[in-house]
Amino acid sequence: MSAAIEIRNLTKRFNDLTILDDISFSIDPSEFVVFLGPSGCGKSTLLRMIAGLESISDGEIWMDQDRLDVLPPGKRNVSMVFQNYALYPHMTVEDNMAFGLKNIKTEPAVIATRIKKAAEMLEMTHLLKRKPAELSGGQRQRVAIGRAIVREPKAFLFDEPLSNLDAALRGRTRIELAQLHQRVKATMIFVTHDQVEAMTLADRIVVLNNTKIEQIGTPIDIYQRPASKFVAGFVGTPAMNFISVASLERTQGATTVHIDGMKPIKTHINYEHLPDPAGTFEIGVRAEDVDVVHESESEVSGTVSFVERLGERTLLYVKLADGRMLIANTDGKSPICAQTKVHLRMNKAAIHLFDAKGRAYHGEAQ
Ligand SMILES: Nc1ncnc2c1ncn2[C@@H]1O[C@H](COP(=O)(O)OP(=O)(O)OP(=O)(O)O)[C@@H](O)[C@H]1O
Ligand SMILES: [Mg+2]
Repeated sequence: MSAAIEIRNLTKRFNDLTILDDISFSIDPSEFVVFLGPSGCGKSTLLRMIAGLESISDGEIWMDQDRLDVLPPGKRNVSMVFQNYALYPHMTVEDNMAFGLKNIKTEPAVIATRIKKAAEMLEMTHLLKRKPAELSGGQRQRVAIGRAIVREPKAFLFDEPLSNLDAALRGRTRIELAQLHQRVKATMIFVTHDQVEAMTLADRIVVLNNTKIEQIGTPIDIYQRPASKFVAGFVGTPAMNFISVASLERTQGATTVHIDGMKPIKTHINYEHLPDPAGTFEIGVRAEDVDVVHESESEVSGTVSFVERLGERTLLYVKLADGRMLIANTDGKSPICAQTKVHLRMNKAAIHLFDAKGRAYHGEAQ
């Protein structure tokens, strides 16, 4: 029931403006793929091109053995779920779910069976006779998903389907969606700019930026081995710390980083992998890989200018002697408060290097 989807050399222009430039990738049957990227990067446009709601400027889209982009939307065997649900207000939940199937002249008995099954799966059997106005936001969202399910598509396309929900409901619906994917095993493409959604739902994430694919990978790949400074800075909260490097030195094959005002830092990055070690570099290190330690073990010291308590952990915004800010991580119950002097040490295995073009280099043992 699920399909492989392939995007081949796809380009999208609106008038003279190129939104997506010659992008290619493929999605496996039953895979859950998330398109992630900043606002305006073309995530919705790409999804709408797969659904047939937007024309393509160049390239091809394939589903299994068939060319998809030449087919009208109704013949593509995909169901799209929108952010605003797009339910018919004058129809009951049941009629909303049946509408698309009636349109394609599906047998009434088949429609009834499918609605019953979908309603049970989504735990909304008791809502079938209500109208959308009598439902909560989360319930409406479930109807929109139910309407997609009854069509038994080969692929589901979701465009930020959770963004109108409050935080708690969003979290719950996210888990429901993950479970739904396990049950129906259909191919799913999900657009979001919420990184938590992307990290928790995706088998693979496609990071889009500036008309191109920045990286395709599993959530852990994207998080631990970001392909570029853009991905490193975009994924993760708080954003990764970036610090400019004065010089690099080869030590036993690895790379030691010299930074003004800090002790030398021996990373796990293979020096031989750096095409131009004399060039301009920055290191990147996440807050969770910067710990508060005794002065003798530290690389740098500074003064806490702001404490952000998140419950299970506490973020420290530490001002270094030259005014730069480094975000460090400590436990939730930490007594450290603003104006405290702290000494910091970085986890050497988790240090990334970025060259002037934003290309990333990672430690070997990560
Ligand atoms: N019909 C249109 N005509 C002209 N430009 C458009 C049209 N639709 C979208 N765009 C432009 O194309 C770009 C991509 O839009 P798109 O809606 O795909 O972004 P997005 O990644 O989904 O953003 P968001 O996260 O804000 O939803 C934007 O710069 C947008 O202004
Ligand atoms: Mg969008």
